Amino acid sequence: MKILAVYGSTGQDSQSLKMIRVMAQAAEVAGAVVEPLDLLATPLPLFRTDISFAEDPLVSDVRHRCAEADGYLMVSPEYHGCMSSWMKNFFDFHYHEFAGKLFALAASTGGSMGVSCNTQMRVAIQHCHGWALPYQTAVRQSDLDEAGEIHNPAVIDRLQRMGRDLVIYGQLLNQQLAQDKAAAAQVDKSQRQAFGFAGWYV
Ligand SMILES: Cc1cc2nc3c(=O)[nH]c(=O)nc-3n(C[C@H](O)[C@H](O)[C@H](O)COP(=O)(O)O)c2cc1C
Repeated sequence: MKILAVYGSTGQDSQSLKMIRVMAQAAEVAGAVVEPLDLLATPLPLFRTDISFAEDPLVSDVRHRCAEADGYLMVSPEYHGCMSSWMKNFFDFHYHEFAGKLFALAASTGGSMGVSCNTQMRVAIQHCHGWALPYQTAVRQSDLDEAGEIHNPAVIDRLQRMGRDLVIYGQLLNQQLAQDKAAAAQVDKSQRQAFGFAGWYV
């Protein structure tokens, strides 16, 4: 499993980065190779529909990395109950790259439980025909100690479970998707519905 660990903070040394690290470590223990994608350090242009971006090397590189990924860890700061603009802009550049893959979602918040931010990401993934783990996590500022590290054991436990579950359940989805795509590719377009939604993506 190749996992892309995407985080959409707007500042260095962020809470989001600390969360991604905990999740990524658990995913690696479960056998995955995890590659970070820091959206702040990878500043995509602002998405627009009247430009193809086909010649933009950064857009192409990020699209390639998304296509290569088997699953995603995704952490966004919650801004006014929404995902960050960096994260939403990242979503707008992608669609087929997400289809059929599993996502683990978490929100970095000031004090809320991140439900609104996580729900937004969940809905965006759903509209790209991706899957998301049925539970999510938020880390609030009160979950950090004076050194800025996550100290709440319940939150750490949840982040670790998400890293593990992304790999274990993501593998099952990947195997089935690959089988369905291979089988759908053997038949005429009119018969591809026999392979469920995978039939759309061959
Ligand atoms: C513009 C803005 C809006 C925010 N809105 C919320 C909010 O709706 N709920 C909340 O709990 N925290 C809110 N916060 C606090 C951030 O979610 C919090 O600082 C978070 O830890 C930032 O994550 P980061 O360290 O990964 O960048 C907001 C912060 C900013 C700058």
